[in-house]
Amino acid sequence: MQTFHVRTFGCQMNKHDSERVAGLLRSDGLEAVPYVDDADVVVYMTCCVRENADERLRGQVASLKAVKNARGGRQLIAVGGCIGQRDGEILLRQLPHVDVVFGTHNIAHLPALLEAAERHRKPQVEILEESTDFASDLPAEREHPWHAWVPITVGCDNFCSYCIVPHVRGRERSRELDDIVAEAERLRAEGVLEVTLLGQNVNSYGRDLYGSPRFAEVLEAVAATGIPRIRFATSHPKDLLDATIRTMANVAEVMPYLHLPVQSGSNDVLAAMNRHYAKESYLDLVERLYDAIPDLALSTDVIVGFPGETDADFEDTLDVVATSRVDQAFTFIYSPRAGTPAATMPDQVPREVAQERFDRLVEVVHRSALEKNVPFVGSVQPVLFAGTSKRDRRMLSGRSPHNKVVHVALAEGEEAADYAGRIVDVRIIEAQTWFLAGEIAR
Ligand code: SAH
Ligand code: SF4
Ligand code: F3S
Repeated sequence: MQTFHVRTFGCQMNKHDSERVAGLLRSDGLEAVPYVDDADVVVYMTCCVRENADERLRGQVASLKAVKNARGGRQLIAVGGCIGQRDGEILLRQLPHVDVVFGTHNIAHLPALLEAAERHRKPQVEILEESTDFASDLPAEREHPWHAWVPITVGCDNFCSYCIVPHVRGRERSRELDDIVAEAERLRAEGVLEVTLLGQNVNSYGRDLYGSPRFAEVLEAVAATGIPRIRFATSHPKDLLDATIRTMANVAEVMPYLHLPVQSGSNDVLAAMNRHYAKESYLDLVERLYDAIPDLALSTDVIVGFPGETDADFEDTLDVVATSRVDQAFTFIYSPRAGTPAATMPDQVPREVAQERFDRLVEVVHRSALEKNVPFVGSVQPVLFAGTSKRDRRMLSGRSPHNKVVHVALAEGEEAADYAGRIVDVRIIEAQTWFLAGEIAR
């Protein structure tokens, strides 16, 4: 084993875990390579939140039937993440050429499992139900040196009726505040400019450890380390406290952007989803947010075609999305997940009906996104540049505080490396639905 390649599906938690997998393999002496074919070890970090994510993994792993890599060596295939956790041994029956299956709680054991698979020429499966460790304590190989994912909780206790996550990530557990701050201080010392605090529901941070939620304190403590940009995801509307809104409004390091999944605008559907809030209370929360943070950028998640969703229910969803003036919405057609209560609910919505609603929703989201972008024209925004756009190597790409993608054409004689990993003022000259364009403010 000399080289590895990690493929990541799913959410930010998986991205964080993949950076740990890469860090572990690197400290074991392996080297990362950009192509699957060149790797001695291929690790898939998988997601099963919706059916298409599930199927993509199977397709990709099945296509790797050739067990030799481009250099003629034996290729070891490991499957981790949420499908690993959920399916364990079953996965080996479906994909017998897989060498290691590991779960979401035992990332640290991956090097040992790979070694055992190689030594005994026998597939290894290890799935733990729970763990007491946080993967953050493992070595990391970060995608960008200036950005870090910092989990503050793992798992989820909410059991939304459609969702597989609590079944594959376990119960919610918070990390000690001191640990989080110590990690933030380390990251600051390494020159990290932006951290994203992670949890399935960051707003309930601390409930298990301290008896009541203390998320606002986490934001303040991380800001005090001097990290210039703090982001976080995800916020469950039922748990977002006024203390957090105040902190967002008052602490400059906390970026003016919030991801607040609404899922549906219909009170009947929200109740069936087990979300514990109503359309009216979501809209009231959104208004309080805009009152405190007038320039807030807001994104949301929406599921259309939940079992029993009627035309009238869907109209409520369109209304809540338009009234919330969202900057972005991640829209999904409901996908039944075996083992969740919604999968066996009556009145599953036909695919064509869901698709038609989905298309109408996307239109409303586009309109709202453009409306939120236009007011930025003429303003100067500090942009953290990540590199160039994938489509145009002369087009710098970065993010504004409001999490907007900002494009700036490179001047002659300039290179992307002059900007990557720096926060630079940009004058915005154009607003499109999904990005802003500007020029370096000199
Ligand atoms: N903890 C986060 C992320 C959950 S998964 C949260 O609560 O927001 C990300 C999104 O996937 C969810 O917000 C939901 O919109 C969507 N999702 C989850 N399960 C789904 C399912 N069975 N079908 C369709 N979309 C789903
Ligand atoms: Fe899933 Fe709901 Fe937990 Fe989010 S809050 S991970 S949607 S169960
Ligand atoms: Fe997917 Fe697991 Fe995240 S199921 S959304 S990768 S927690």
